[in-house]
Amino acid sequence: MTRARVAPRGPLRGETRVPGDKSITQRAILIGALAPGTTRIRGANPGADARAALGIVRQLGVRVTASAKEGVLIRGGKLGESDRVLDARNSGTALRLATGILAAQPFLSILTGDSSLRRRPVARVIEPLRALGAELTARQNDRYPPVVVRGRTLQGAAVLTAVPSAQVKSAVLLAGIQGHGVTSVRESAPTRDHTERMLPLFGAPVERDVMSARVRGPATLHGAEIDVPGDFSAAAFLLAAAAIVRGSDVTIRGVGVNPTRTAFLDHLARIGARVERGNDHLVSEEPVADLRVRAGALRGVRLAPGGAPGLIDELPLVAILAAFAEGKTVVRGAEELRVKESDRIRAVAAGLQAIGVDVDVHADGWTIHGKGGRLRGGTVDAGGDHRIAMAFLVAGLAAREGVTLLGAESSRVSDPGFLSRLRSLAR
Ligand code: S3P
Repeated sequence: MTRARVAPRGPLRGETRVPGDKSITQRAILIGALAPGTTRIRGANPGADARAALGIVRQLGVRVTASAKEGVLIRGGKLGESDRVLDARNSGTALRLATGILAAQPFLSILTGDSSLRRRPVARVIEPLRALGAELTARQNDRYPPVVVRGRTLQGAAVLTAVPSAQVKSAVLLAGIQGHGVTSVRESAPTRDHTERMLPLFGAPVERDVMSARVRGPATLHGAEIDVPGDFSAAAFLLAAAAIVRGSDVTIRGVGVNPTRTAFLDHLARIGARVERGNDHLVSEEPVADLRVRAGALRGVRLAPGGAPGLIDELPLVAILAAFAEGKTVVRGAEELRVKESDRIRAVAAGLQAIGVDVDVHADGWTIHGKGGRLRGGTVDAGGDHRIAMAFLVAGLAAREGVTLLGAESSRVSDPGFLSRLRSLAR
């Protein structure tokens, strides 16, 4: 286990970029594997999750090459049974989306992951796929991976998802484009829509409104050119760092600002950071912009009810910001955090307490008693979770005694260059 230490060293200043979006990269890899012809992905996320998705498609017989000049090239269109178990490692997105794809392929697949992923729920994806006629089972009454998929011919169906989850929605759409007839997915709150934006680029039209999406199968797919915008969730760590370190002024260029992902920007402005956005444009159907954040005096707030899906991956950072704010911050309705790469409600509370912050823990969130500029610091265990690791490294920049992080290697899952990027801004 590697340790990292971050201590206060003055304001963060300057411009930077972040790696390609992890969600979009994994979708491009998996859909590219299904689509006949060559798919080229430029700006792919270099983290371990994206590599796990690449490993899965390779095991299914897809040829993949990668170079700095050409990007990632995927020769898709013909998937074949693997004689090994497919390993999504730490990636819930790879496991759940691949399950949707494989449900319609005429062979047997077994999907698993690391010890964290093997504790994360899969019934949420198995049940809706069964409505299309898929044959799947999983450990412990269909609760946990490994998942066994006996691929077969699917029929279109109308699905209402039990939890708002882009992974579940995407798995159903990826099965639906291979089935016969219309498949629709309706959800109780809007979730990230990268799959809906990407499928038409591969030749599969998607009809949609705010809470639902519809595809018709079997779709005739073809390879696509996908340019991946900077990962908003990776940028969020640097934006949060700029917000808490007095005198900071940071600009991040080329960040994906898909409206289903950016509620954290509104949150930053609401608590008192100064946020600007410019140079808006579209890249492979995804909105992209440059983001600038300057530090401000932060105040505690109550997160709007129903607000969690729009900043689900940023909630650990919402908690860190709350610790540096004046007053109380209340986050409720975030029970999904219990089933992420770790139990993030527990992990965040333990980390905050270890650095001297008072937290009331709820089943679905926290009440955090802000310390303003008077936060002590200490030693925090990342618990194998990349977002917990990066959130507490950020906290170290403004905590009196800094933060020592155990398990710093976890950040390789989404942003292997995180610590050096953070340090280069804090020079
Ligand atoms: C993701 C969707 C979210 C998010 C995860 C990536 C995706 O999960 O937390 O990091 O790529 O679709 P859920 O859709 O399960 O909420």
